[in-house]
Amino acid sequence: MTAAEQEPTILVEGLSHTYARRGSAVEVLRDVRLRVERGAYASLVGPSGSGKSTLLSVLGGLERPQSGTVVVGGTELTGLSGDALARFRRSTVGFVFQHFGLLDTLTASENVELALTLGGMSRAARRRRADELLGDVGLAGRAEHRPFELSGGERQRVAIARAIANEPEVILADEPTGNLDVDSAAAVAALLESLRDERGTTLVVVTHNPALAALADFHLRLVDGQLVGATALEGVDRDRLA
Ligand SMILES: Nc1ncnc2c1ncn2[C@@H]1O[C@H](COP(=O)(O)OP(=O)(O)O)[C@@H](O)[C@H]1O
Ligand SMILES: [Mg+2]
Repeated sequence: MTAAEQEPTILVEGLSHTYARRGSAVEVLRDVRLRVERGAYASLVGPSGSGKSTLLSVLGGLERPQSGTVVVGGTELTGLSGDALARFRRSTVGFVFQHFGLLDTLTASENVELALTLGGMSRAARRRRADELLGDVGLAGRAEHRPFELSGGERQRVAIARAIANEPEVILADEPTGNLDVDSAAAVAALLESLRDERGTTLVVVTHNPALAALADFHLRLVDGQLVGATALEGVDRDRLA
């Protein structure tokens, strides 16, 4: 293992985040510390409004860190320019949302193709790769379907195919089974687990779904802007947890 491979994929220290709102400030994250080793799966819970989505947004480069250190996949996000943050988002992270976030007018294949913006692929190569990714998530027969022609579980699998299109080191998922029935949720959970086990993808998943949380290597909770459960497990790797 090289030194770089021993670095945790996610390292957060002293992260605070405040939203300014009509003159008053709402401090959502307070001095958050987090360490997630490469290929580990962290689940995250907390009451509504506790800052779970904000934390994922910071980890994924959608919100710029306001303080402290945030390193994800070897990139220090604090102080990055907008262009550099956009590059980071395309290359290093994949997002999965509760409401799927697919474009209604595009087919499953086209939705995945949209993510394949790296590396100057030809149109034909993008199409082939999108179909391959749909095959990977068990939707080989659904490439031409538009979102309204797919079940909720299938839509979420398209969204996962899109999220992994650029082989991100990290998948950030925000209540990915929140809109799914039990069986579809189980299929999505199995798929996320396979990303960790077969591709070594690092996962941070906001979920209150017991089946999805049960697969996690460790559990985090946001309470009053503070992350509980992270520091206690600092430095503990999956092999020793297993
Ligand atoms: N863009 C924003 N501007 C102002 N306040 C926001 C913004 N996004 C979230 N908030 C506020 O920050 C708090 C945390 O929100 P969020 O991270 O979405 O929580 P959770 O995902 O845990 O429900 C909430 O009080 C929410 O109203
Ligand atoms: Mg949220």
